[in-house]
Amino acid sequence: MSVTLLTPAQIQAKLAERKYPAQQTYLAMYSTWWGGIVTEPGLMTVPVDDHLVHRGDGVFEAIKVVNGRIFLFNEHMRRLEASAQQIGLKLPISVADVKNIIAEAMRAAKVQDALLRLYLSRGPGGFTTNPYDSVGEQLYLVVTSLKLLPPEKYEQGVSIAKSAVPPKEPSMARIKSCNYLPNVLMKKESVDRGVDFTINLDSAGNFLEGSTENMVIVDQAGNLVRPPLHQILKGTTMMRAFELAESLVKTGQLKAIQERNITESDIVSAKEVMMIGTTLDVLPVTSFEGMKIGSGTQGPVAKELNRLVREDIKNGVRI
Ligand SMILES: Cc1ncc(COP(=O)(O)O)c(C=O)c1O
Repeated sequence: MSVTLLTPAQIQAKLAERKYPAQQTYLAMYSTWWGGIVTEPGLMTVPVDDHLVHRGDGVFEAIKVVNGRIFLFNEHMRRLEASAQQIGLKLPISVADVKNIIAEAMRAAKVQDALLRLYLSRGPGGFTTNPYDSVGEQLYLVVTSLKLLPPEKYEQGVSIAKSAVPPKEPSMARIKSCNYLPNVLMKKESVDRGVDFTINLDSAGNFLEGSTENMVIVDQAGNLVRPPLHQILKGTTMMRAFELAESLVKTGQLKAIQERNITESDIVSAKEVMMIGTTLDVLPVTSFEGMKIGSGTQGPVAKELNRLVREDIKNGVRI
């Protein structure tokens, strides 16, 4: 095998040739490294010596834009900054500048709906574990097409199973870091097992969360319950859904809102189980380890909460 020493011009040509289907959903990328926006997927790159690449040293957010409005923008930025602070990173630009960049990147992408992926990295330099070898934090924003689940998934519900992947230690579970290997393995096991999601458990056997989504239940008594925030990511959608659920307590559709451990018997006996997250909104679960949950179809609370969240998306930050 002969190995070519490539010239920059040859690389330029290869960027145009090297195509794969997923790139069709990559619409625009901004990076502080380039100091601008590109729309050619082949140019959407990160320096290989950025500690984000070789150590997973960075934090991120996935943010939904619907009809030109960014859903829960401030909440996502607060979580990004909180994650960053936990690992000694700082945003290299202001939140107001991030918003402007999102607006410009959306314009370049020529869309009104998108899933934004925002990465705050340690930055390039050194190839070591030493964060001080980096030249400084970088921010990468990729605008991708928003792909939502079909309505049938909401009517029929999805399947979940217990994960065999050990959970992250609590202080790590609360950081949305780019070190997502356990989450990747959970997604892999769900695909390999033919279920929609697997849910991990703490050392006492309490249910925590899915690979990239939260899980909540309506218990036998009619309480909407989420697990303690100690060993899960504080989902922006779950927190907002729980605020919106207060109205269901007032109308008597829910008894109360609770935060407590969720055991296997809670899941098996639950009236409803739901997966909640940025791309899902509120998705009903109708099977656990092959057993039927609740009525076996979308429950009334899941339906109403999903409606409330989708209504709330209209109040997102305008760009
Ligand atoms: C581990 C984990 N849990 C929960 C969530 C749901 O959070 P959000 O509603 O902010 O998308 C995510 C997604 O970001 C996640 O990665």
